[in-house]
Amino acid sequence: MAMAWMMIHLALGLVLIHTAAAACPPAFTQYITAPSYVNPCSIDNSACAWYSFSNGADTVIVNPASGPGTAVDSNYASLVNTIRAREPSGATFITSILGYVATTYGAKSLTAAKAEIDKYNTFYKVDGIFFDEVSTDCAKTSYYATLVQYVQSHTKSPSGQDYTILNWGTNGPECFLKTTPSADNFVTFEGNYSQYQSYAPLSYMTSYAPARWYNIVYNVTQANVVSTVLKSKYNRAGWVYVTNDDSPNPFDTAPKPYTTYWQAEVNKVARTC
Ligand SMILES: *[C@@H]1O[C@H](CO)[C@@H](O)[C@H](O)[C@H]1NC(C)=O
Ligand SMILES: *[C@@H]1O[C@H](CO)[C@@H](O)[C@H](O)[C@H]1NC(C)=O
Repeated sequence: MAMAWMMIHLALGLVLIHTAAAACPPAFTQYITAPSYVNPCSIDNSACAWYSFSNGADTVIVNPASGPGTAVDSNYASLVNTIRAREPSGATFITSILGYVATTYGAKSLTAAKAEIDKYNTFYKVDGIFFDEVSTDCAKTSYYATLVQYVQSHTKSPSGQDYTILNWGTNGPECFLKTTPSADNFVTFEGNYSQYQSYAPLSYMTSYAPARWYNIVYNVTQANVVSTVLKSKYNRAGWVYVTNDDSPNPFDTAPKPYTTYWQAEVNKVARTC
């Protein structure tokens, strides 16, 4: 009798656990990757956008001149050095600094794209490259595989990283994931809050780790920041960025205010539910 009651109790407990789990997104570690196309400023000054990034973003993308520019920018060099000096002690969240390279949907020559990668490596010893304006055409997979391979074989990252992100801006086809070498991560959504409401990943994406997927959502109000991060978790986006910055350039400042908006985002990203 006691045994039967225990079994029922146990079964009920399992049902309760199951119900609670169903109300949460799948559990995985989620990180903020910030397109930080913001001029360098002191990460110790709370009015500086880089203060926010260094207090919550795991990875940042630098973009000095819609690309690396033609010469070292001493302000960027100093920012990168400051971040690197703090990484070992954990005094910044930032563990990876990527350079921005636009590829014009595969129309930029490989020579020109490689020259930009070389500049980022020489100027700032970046930990990898974020490729923008990426084609979703399977005919372009070898073009992008060539660039991914180039990043991997030419990195000067002090920690040996060679990350690559391909920004589709929208869902793309599995052929890119089956190419060797494949990029580490793909932006499957870049758009505003209202567009994100109708976004859903493609079914093939569930067979790849969340770390392969990245959602970028802008023009999100303070009232919607937490629900937007939650939606990205249901989408299994291992990397996310949500901001209230808006078009025409939603990446020219950090989400703000720091204490309400950005910290709410950072806290939500760190939690499962
Ligand atoms: C979102 O973007 C679309 C397309 O650019 C635009 O038509 C719409 O007004 C935008 N809405 C918001 C709320 O940002
Ligand atoms: C951003 O969203 C607000 C509503 O929250 C809307 O009024 C505004 O037009 C949007 N901005 C753009 C550029 O679409």
